Amino acid sequence: MDTLTPTTEKKVFLETFGCQSNVLESDHLTTLLLKDNFSLIPTPEEADVILFNTCSIREHAEHKVFSRLGQLAEWKRGKEGRVVGVLGCMATSYKDQLLERAPHLDMVVGPDQYLKVPATIRKASDTGTSQVLADFDPIYFPENDPNRLSQPHKAFLEIMKGCDKFCTFCVVPFTRGREVSRPAESVLEETARLGKAGVKEVMLLGQNVNSYGLGLKSRGKTLTFAQLLKEVGQVPGIERVRFMTSHPLDLSDELVEVMATTPTVCESFHLPVQCGSDSVLKRMGRKYDTAHYLERVQKLRSAVKDLFITTDLIVGFPGETDDDFQDTLNLLEKVRYDAVYSFKYSPRLGTPAARMLNQVPEEVKDERLARLNEVAWKHASESCEGRLGKVEEVLVDGPADKTPDAFYGKSRQNRTVVFPGTGYKAGDKVKVKIESHKVANLYGTAV
Ligand code: SAH
Ligand code: SF4
Ligand code: F3S
Repeated sequence: MDTLTPTTEKKVFLETFGCQSNVLESDHLTTLLLKDNFSLIPTPEEADVILFNTCSIREHAEHKVFSRLGQLAEWKRGKEGRVVGVLGCMATSYKDQLLERAPHLDMVVGPDQYLKVPATIRKASDTGTSQVLADFDPIYFPENDPNRLSQPHKAFLEIMKGCDKFCTFCVVPFTRGREVSRPAESVLEETARLGKAGVKEVMLLGQNVNSYGLGLKSRGKTLTFAQLLKEVGQVPGIERVRFMTSHPLDLSDELVEVMATTPTVCESFHLPVQCGSDSVLKRMGRKYDTAHYLERVQKLRSAVKDLFITTDLIVGFPGETDDDFQDTLNLLEKVRYDAVYSFKYSPRLGTPAARMLNQVPEEVKDERLARLNEVAWKHASESCEGRLGKVEEVLVDGPADKTPDAFYGKSRQNRTVVFPGTGYKAGDKVKVKIESHKVANLYGTAV
C-alpha cells in the first residue's frame, strides 16, 4: 500500500469491493492518482477524499457500500473540500440516482472513466458540485504499472470487458456494457513488459474469456482465446498463466488442446455451472444444458492431467423446486469439484429474473445453501486428501500470517500451500511435499 508523503496534495482512501476486475482497476486508479500528485493512505481517518470501488453482483455487496456512505454524511459536514466518490459497478447501475440516496456524494464514476478521476476529484472539491460520469468507453483498458505492482511476481491482465450473455439473474451486462475484446497486440505488449519486470504469473481476466476476439476484427490482430493464451504462455519470463472466467457454452476443443500442450498454462479451470437442473438453466438463459457441461468437463479431465476444477453455483433461483435442487446435488456428485463458490440468488434491479413471480423464500435458500456447502466441502476435502504425499511446485507469496517461521504460496492448481522455512521471498519457486491439509489449505515441507 502506498503511504502518505508530505509533499502531495490530497490524501485519498480507496476501498475496493467485488471481483478481480475491480482489484486490477483500483491498482490502475492508484497509479493514475499518484501520477497526479495525490497520495494514497491505508485507512480513512486522515483522508481528504474517500472513494469506494463498488460491486453490484448481489444485494449484500451494495448494502455494505450504502452503509459506509451513510456514515460519511457526518464526516463531510462543515468540512469544505472533502470528497466522497462511488466508482465501479454501482456507479453504472445507479448513475445519478445515487445522489438521491446519498446527497452528500460528490462523484459517481463508472469503470470506463477512470482516466478522469483525478480531474473529477479536483472539480468536485473546488466547485462543491456533484459529478456523474457513467458512460462506457470501448477503448479504455486498465494497465499495470510494472514498477508499482501490489505483488511483484503476479499480475491480473484484463483481456476483455463487458458481457453480451445477459443471463437472466445477472447485472454485469448493465454495469459493464457490451462485450469488448482488447487487441491482442496490446495484451501481448503488456505481458512482455510484465515478464521483463520480473512478473512470473499472469491471470487473464474477462467475464467470458472463451468468446475473446469476437467483434474485434476491425481493431488489430484477431486471435481466438486459445491462440491468445498460447502466445501469452510463450512470453519470456512468464512461468504461469491462469484465466477467468470461462463460460461453458464457448469452451472450445482448441482451448482444451492449448491447455494440454502449453506448459506454462496451469492445471486449474474455473467453469461456472450455476445449477444442475436443465429447466432452471434454461430460465437462467445460460444457453447450455447439463449434458453439454458434463461433456466439456469430461473432455478437459481426460486431456489435462491433475486438473483442478472449480465452479459457481446459485441456489434459490426463482421457481427452483426441491427436485431442481436435487439435480444440482446430483451434478456435484458427478463432477466432484475441487472447490465450489456458492451463492444465494439475489434479485438484481432491471434483470428479468427479478421480475419472475415465483421467488424462493429466504429460509429455503438458506437451507439449500447449507446442504450444498456440506456436499461441496466433503468433495473439497477429499480433493485435498488426494494431494497428500505429492510434491507441489509452490510460487511463494510471502510469510504465512498465522504460522510463525512459515511461508505460503500457490501450487500450480492454485491451492494455498503453507510450509516452514526462513529467507524465502515472493516469487521464489519451492518444491513442497504435502503432509496434511486443514480446510482447503495444504501443509508440507520443502524438499
Ligand atoms: N461471467 C461469469 C460470472 C460473473 S459473476 C460467468 O458467467 O460465469 C460471478 C458469479 O456471481 C456468477 O458466476 C454467479 O454464480 C454469481 N451471481 C451473479 N449474479 C448473481 C445473483 N443475482 N445472485 C446470486 N449470485 C449471482
Ligand atoms: Fe453475468 Fe452471465 Fe455475463 Fe457471467 S455470462 S457476467 S453470469 S451475464
Ligand atoms: Fe461485481 Fe462488477 Fe465485478 S458487479 S463482480 S465488480 S464486474
